[in-house]
Amino acid sequence: MDNESEKNPAGRDSHAMDDTAPAPDARRLRDKLARSDRPYVTLKAAVTLDGKIATRSGASRWITGEAAREFAHRLRANHDAVLVGINTVTTDDPQLTVRLPDQKATPARAVLDSLCKIDPSARFMAADGARRFVISGAQAPEARVAALREAGADVLVCDQPRPEPACFLPYLRQSGIDTLLVEGGGQVHANLIAHGEADELWLLIAGKVIGGGDAPGWCGSLGVERIEDVPRLALLPVRQAGEDIVIRGMFGSRKP
Ligand SMILES: NC(=O)c1ccc[n+]([C@@H]2O[C@H](COP(=O)([O-])OP(=O)(O)OC[C@H]3O[C@@H](n4cnc5c(N)ncnc54)[C@H](OP(=O)(O)O)[C@@H]3O)[C@@H](O)[C@H]2O)c1
Repeated sequence: MDNESEKNPAGRDSHAMDDTAPAPDARRLRDKLARSDRPYVTLKAAVTLDGKIATRSGASRWITGEAAREFAHRLRANHDAVLVGINTVTTDDPQLTVRLPDQKATPARAVLDSLCKIDPSARFMAADGARRFVISGAQAPEARVAALREAGADVLVCDQPRPEPACFLPYLRQSGIDTLLVEGGGQVHANLIAHGEADELWLLIAGKVIGGGDAPGWCGSLGVERIEDVPRLALLPVRQAGEDIVIRGMFGSRKP
């Protein structure tokens, strides 16, 4: 018989090992899909010990080692879509595909890009069979919206100048995305946490330090002043991925 007091807020036995696959927590996923019109939102970042996702010049390849990168691909393979901010596309030109020997399917990809600045020749836009969503705002120039549609993207134009989660999350869910993996950067992670839309977090942590206030961290400003208002996560047991460690936490489960 389960003793509820023995369970952590993620619903697991607090002494159990976290030996699950890199995939959304099944029970929380079911609950989320049943009670809301949004996808289950997982945040993920590869960080240094001081939480940095890039150096001050924006270099981020590679922070973690090969095993952690493979782990990240497995996490990607277990989500319906990957979401990033336009700065990440501009800086890194990521493919956002799953590159594993035993995995052919690749998730859809989405970018938050208020003005449709994405270069149609960016790797994000590659016509590789994956659905591509460009999520823009009210001031996106019509010609750019049309050019991206012409290039095969589904372009959502939200009413706000910068698209907000209340606009794009229900749209993605209606488009068949039940599980969304948010791969940064820090501004996008912060926006989703600030709106209470993040369900879980995976941090792949390298034994490295970048330091300084000008290198970006995995989470931008949340504008929180009081400790009582700081979002809290229920942490699961730490696991190892090669020379790096993996931390998984569940949002919104417990008040401090
Ligand atoms: N190590 C890692 O795991 C990792 C992963 C990803 C990125 N990175 C690094 O992170 C850096 C980029 O991160 P970043 O924080 O500067 O940028 P970002 O989060 O990738 O993109 C932020 C931009 O997205 C657009 N946006 C539109 N709607 C938004 C919304 N609702 N919330 C937030 N942003 C929205 C905004 O530009 P507009 O106003 O123009 O729309 C905003 O400036 C790069 O150096 C990259 O290499 C590292």
